[in-house]
Amino acid sequence: MKYKYSIVGVGKMGSALLNGILKDKSDDKSEILLTVHGDKQKKEYTDLGFNATTDLKEGLSDASFIILSLKPQVVKSLEIFDEIDFTGKCVISVAAGLTVDYLSGRFKNAEIVRCMPNTPALIGEGVTTICAKNKASKNYEIAKKILSSVGKVYEIDERLMDATVPLNGSMPAYALYFANGFIDYAVKSGVDEKTAKHLVLESIISSAKLALSSDDDVSVLINNVCSKGGTTIAGLDRLISGKVAESIYDCASACAERSEELSK
Ligand SMILES: NC(=O)c1ccc[n+]([C@@H]2O[C@H](COP(=O)([O-])OP(=O)(O)OC[C@H]3O[C@@H](n4cnc5c(N)ncnc54)[C@H](OP(=O)(O)O)[C@@H]3O)[C@@H](O)[C@H]2O)c1
Repeated sequence: MKYKYSIVGVGKMGSALLNGILKDKSDDKSEILLTVHGDKQKKEYTDLGFNATTDLKEGLSDASFIILSLKPQVVKSLEIFDEIDFTGKCVISVAAGLTVDYLSGRFKNAEIVRCMPNTPALIGEGVTTICAKNKASKNYEIAKKILSSVGKVYEIDERLMDATVPLNGSMPAYALYFANGFIDYAVKSGVDEKTAKHLVLESIISSAKLALSSDDDVSVLINNVCSKGGTTIAGLDRLISGKVAESIYDCASACAERSEELSK
């Protein structure tokens, strides 16, 4: 095999995983092939010393590990898979909703590892769920190592893959949506944007760290801030009367349902 890794689709996730692979000093650029969408992106990467191609067939044929980081709709629309025998190859897919069975049907004879990372992988702080049929294989270990190079990895049953998408894959959007609401309020109240961003986001990080280091339930930690007649409860009561908990449940359900739909 000409290359160890082929990253197919070098957008947000593909480039995060590329950075992760390069962090491991045992892998160098010459072992990686990047399959990109256009000549402009190809030139950008070749100028940086990478092997890059716009030929999907080459990208799928010439490497032991295919890191599939295309949008699920794009994967479904591609005809080329049926022409190639993937015996001996491992496909590491980050495509939302595409199941191990679906991918096995497209990548004939390949070993499939299905993952769901999130965008903090871009800064090495990703939280990834991972599953496969054969968890005892060497390829599965290598896939875990690649994902671990961009953050934490949690092995889960594939049947929970859709249900967990809102918890990690989509969580940056939900957590930051919540943060953004407070930043908007702060700016309208006269706090400068930079200060607002730091106060809100650092408080979210430190609250999460406190919760992770505590044996108490998250609900107990919420109550710890809510003294009777105090400021926090005055605001929390608005979230409760606005049925925000119900909206969050709906949000998570809709996200998981969409992941399920994409697998069909
Ligand atoms: N972003 C997230 O938060 C997140 C989290 C977990 C999982 N994922 C999964 O990661 C996958 C990629 O998502 P992303 O956010 O990285 O998307 P993205 O930034 O749009 O990256 C996809 C890349 O694939 C390229 N591409 C499209 N068709 C191609 C083809 N035929 N050959 C080669 N390259 C092609 C796109 O190029 P053009 O832009 O030129 O079309 C783009 O650079 C998706 O399946 C998604 O479900 C994403």
